[in-house]
Amino acid sequence: MSTQPLANHKVSVQTFKQMKTQRAPIVALTAYDAAFARVLDEAGCDFILVGDSLGMVVQGLATTIPVTVEDIIYHTRLVARGCARALVMADMPFMSYFSADDCLRNAARLMKEGGAEMVKLEWGALQLDMVSRLTECGIPVCAHLGLTPQAIHKIGSYRVQGREHAMAEKMVADARALEAAGADMLLLECVPLALAACITASAGVPVIGIGAGPEVDGQILVLYDVLDIAPGKRTRFSKNYMEGAGSIHAAVARYVSEVRDRDFPTADYAFT
Ligand code: KIV
Repeated sequence: MSTQPLANHKVSVQTFKQMKTQRAPIVALTAYDAAFARVLDEAGCDFILVGDSLGMVVQGLATTIPVTVEDIIYHTRLVARGCARALVMADMPFMSYFSADDCLRNAARLMKEGGAEMVKLEWGALQLDMVSRLTECGIPVCAHLGLTPQAIHKIGSYRVQGREHAMAEKMVADARALEAAGADMLLLECVPLALAACITASAGVPVIGIGAGPEVDGQILVLYDVLDIAPGKRTRFSKNYMEGAGSIHAAVARYVSEVRDRDFPTADYAFT
């Protein structure tokens, strides 16, 4: 069992590439403030995502859609203060990256005002162009595929994506196109484990899963699910690490060690 980070130096997208080559699992969680960011950083998380999930778990909203660029900047600034080693990734909120001007201006604000070191955007047809423009500007990008919560009103419910053959083939093609456009990382949410394994095997960049099974390059969960304080029903793919842990530090340390040792996620937390 290992809870130690693989390297003590500041994590960058180059670290993630090395970890993929060495088949060393990348460990990540979301956080929204400095105190939790420090706990995660000290426990050895490789990156911390200031997700727009903050709308639902911190602000009490029903969806992530109302979250603003200002909200993400504010929470990213707090998280960056608590991080010494982990890379800080910030989500681009709904409709903040649908024109090249908006995308570049808002990504720059997340970095300059919030201290983000990488931005994440959800996949859609326009995003290839946005990914290449961000890449040209030297901004590391993570592209989020599978279940994309910002499209909830189109999708209808938070459910597994890519079970149908045509959709699975499209996701494989989208992943390739995003990598070719310059994406430094792919994130797959709620995807059948065989599809996630196939995308991971053919991708040259790290693939992080949330509800995407064990055969990806790393795992992320929403911190408040791990601590069992998220409102509403727990998602099938998340695990309550507070059970039997005794403290938040112990719960986070167990998550880090289970991901590093590939003990999480088991089939119980994956979709077929
Ligand atoms: O907003 C978020 O927390 C996310 C994770 C679910 C990956 O995008």
